[in-house]
Amino acid sequence: MDVDRATHTTTTPLADDASTPTAEAVPMDALVIQGGRKLTGRVEVSGAKNAALPVMAATLLAPGVHTLRNVPLLSDTRTMSRVLEQLGARVEFRGHACKIDTSGVRSVEAPYDLVRTMRASVYVLGPLLARFGAARVSLPGGCAWGPRPVNLHIEGLNAMNAGLEIEHGYIVGKDVRLQGAEYGFQTVSVGATAQLMMAATLAEGRTVLDNVAIEPDITALGEVLAGCGARIEGLGTRRLTIDGVRELKPIDTTIIPDRIEAATFLAAAAITGGSITVERCNAAHVAATMHVLELAGAEVLPGNGEIAISGPTLASAVNVTTAPFPGFPTDMQAQMMALCAVADGTSVITDTIYLDRFTHVPELTRLGAQIELKGNVAIVTGVERLQGAPVMATDIRASAALVLAALVAEGETRISRIYHLDRGYEGLAEKLVKLGAGVERVQE
Ligand code: EPU
Repeated sequence: MDVDRATHTTTTPLADDASTPTAEAVPMDALVIQGGRKLTGRVEVSGAKNAALPVMAATLLAPGVHTLRNVPLLSDTRTMSRVLEQLGARVEFRGHACKIDTSGVRSVEAPYDLVRTMRASVYVLGPLLARFGAARVSLPGGCAWGPRPVNLHIEGLNAMNAGLEIEHGYIVGKDVRLQGAEYGFQTVSVGATAQLMMAATLAEGRTVLDNVAIEPDITALGEVLAGCGARIEGLGTRRLTIDGVRELKPIDTTIIPDRIEAATFLAAAAITGGSITVERCNAAHVAATMHVLELAGAEVLPGNGEIAISGPTLASAVNVTTAPFPGFPTDMQAQMMALCAVADGTSVITDTIYLDRFTHVPELTRLGAQIELKGNVAIVTGVERLQGAPVMATDIRASAALVLAALVAEGETRISRIYHLDRGYEGLAEKLVKLGAGVERVQE
């Protein structure tokens, strides 16, 4: 599916292009990759998907015209635009600048058809309750690699007096007056932290949130909310104190660079033994990946807003365990596994965030990788070479791992169902071609 970079409007009919598009709705594009070329040159990182999505939802908190700049042109940001439009907002893209007018919002319902295509649609729940005292938001359901509950979102909002009930698959709140509360998360959750932060900005009184996520996307959201007039203390720490205000005002803001896209390009350079500079990124957000790539033998040089990397001729095996930020991101687990698949020695990769996030394993195995999966631990024995083969993308990061593996596999790899990549990587094929990779996007 081609994204219209000039307008990215949501007024044209959109394909149901997120998690499970129908064959008639969207062309099933594939990537055909000729392996064996080292990446060289410079590449620019787009705005962060996972920062843009909550900020887009947060515009519901303040009636008026918001301007968000550097919004990545992805099917996920299109889906969030559709959710906002469904509620009555007007969304207009000019290039990467997105104007969202939330003064006309009348509906409080986010329907199943949209939420099922993108779980982050559930972000509208807190803002709707906070501004309108009501919401009817579909439960997202499972995802490609297993259950992803939203119980902490609901429990936390209920601690703030939301009185949410589940009715026929929808999370429903009626006649709600959110009250400040003290709430500690049992598990660090990016989504639930964002949800409660947004809700607390307009709640009555003080909310104290403990054990919050400190991912850069969360800090960025906090800064946007503060820019709208919210009173938030403790950004970047595990405890947030939010004093509710009566109203918020619209904002003009710029979305931070995508740390996972930046990290994916670094891993792509490392796996090909190439030398590239990743531009328009924040090295502090990518520190955990840079560290692991250095252990694997890459030379990594962070600069001002950019990171240079020279890959090793042969990567060394590394052990990686995912953890909440500033730990190694689960969103880089699959890509790192591709690198370990061709490293010298045996690597152990453990995902502690999502115990089932391993749909890339059988596909990497099709390319010749040797991976033994024991629960949430993958033992990867590096092989001398991978071989190109037809494989299937299964989710955003699993697809990215297949792309990386294909870049070094002997011969041709055809990756089908790349609508998953379109959810999270803007112009990935074009960017890789600019770096010298043999990548072609074809219609199946
Ligand atoms: N969890 C619960 N209950 C909840 C919420 C989360 O048990 O109500 C658990 C999850 O099952 C998981 C852990 O808490 O084990 C952390 O999940 P989190 O809530 O942090 O994940 P999320 O907010 O749903 C975001 C990103 C994901 C990323 C995770 C972890 C967005 C839109 N999504 O999801 O990104 O993997 O944080 O960092 O920000 C991706 O971009 O490919 C992606 C999946």
